[in-house]
Amino acid sequence: MKGIVLAGGLGTRLHPLTKVTNKHLLPVHNKPMIYYPIQALVNAGIDDILIVTGGNNAGDFLKLLGNGKEFGLRHINYTYQEGEGGIAAALALAEFFADDDKICIILGDNIIEKNIINAVSAFKKQKDGAKILLKDVPDPERFGVPEIHNDKIIGIEEKPKKPKSGYAVTGIYMYDSAVFDIIKTLKPSDRGELEITDVNNTYIERDKMTYEILDGWWTDAGTFESLLSASNLVSKTGANKIG
Ligand code: G1P
Repeated sequence: MKGIVLAGGLGTRLHPLTKVTNKHLLPVHNKPMIYYPIQALVNAGIDDILIVTGGNNAGDFLKLLGNGKEFGLRHINYTYQEGEGGIAAALALAEFFADDDKICIILGDNIIEKNIINAVSAFKKQKDGAKILLKDVPDPERFGVPEIHNDKIIGIEEKPKKPKSGYAVTGIYMYDSAVFDIIKTLKPSDRGELEITDVNNTYIERDKMTYEILDGWWTDAGTFESLLSASNLVSKTGANKIG
């Protein structure tokens, strides 16, 4: 399975911090934000990794990460997203890299405490389709929210006013190669983006979606509050411990 870290976008929710740099290069406790999702993939046994960046600071990722020696990697792949088209548009750029393999995507601002290796192994055994990871959160309306019936996800709503469960769809997604054809059918949402939630709903409609509840803490770091709490969580308990 191949890994993809999505680290494009303009990070406008973090202005002025992101006026002259990319969100994923900002500090979270003692490391740049993007270190955590890369480490999460490496800890799960995924060492063929693509980083999708964009904007004016794409070159800084290369300077910072190089060939990934700090993570025990020998090589990192990079691609460049022009403009800002949403998570699914960024993912579309990975089609060539994926080359019909299964992929595990992690958003560059998602930080987790524990290892996702068991979920990754389960998806390797899954014949086809997709798997997402959910986490119970106090503020589901900030995220994609699943509706669950009899242990099955029957739909996901993006940032609903009235969430149908207390879970967030975390920014860790596993897909088979059908994902790229699904993305080609998407239309931009009201916020002008190709939504990953629409990709996931297509898998749900096809009855090809599985899920697991993420163990340990999870946070994004794309708002001032979550950026601060991410730093506090990492400094208190550490992130991405193996095992
Ligand atoms: C995105 C997804 C959302 C998901 C979240 C996880 O939201 O659209 O479904 O729950 O990432 O971090 P965004 O950060 O683009 O608002």
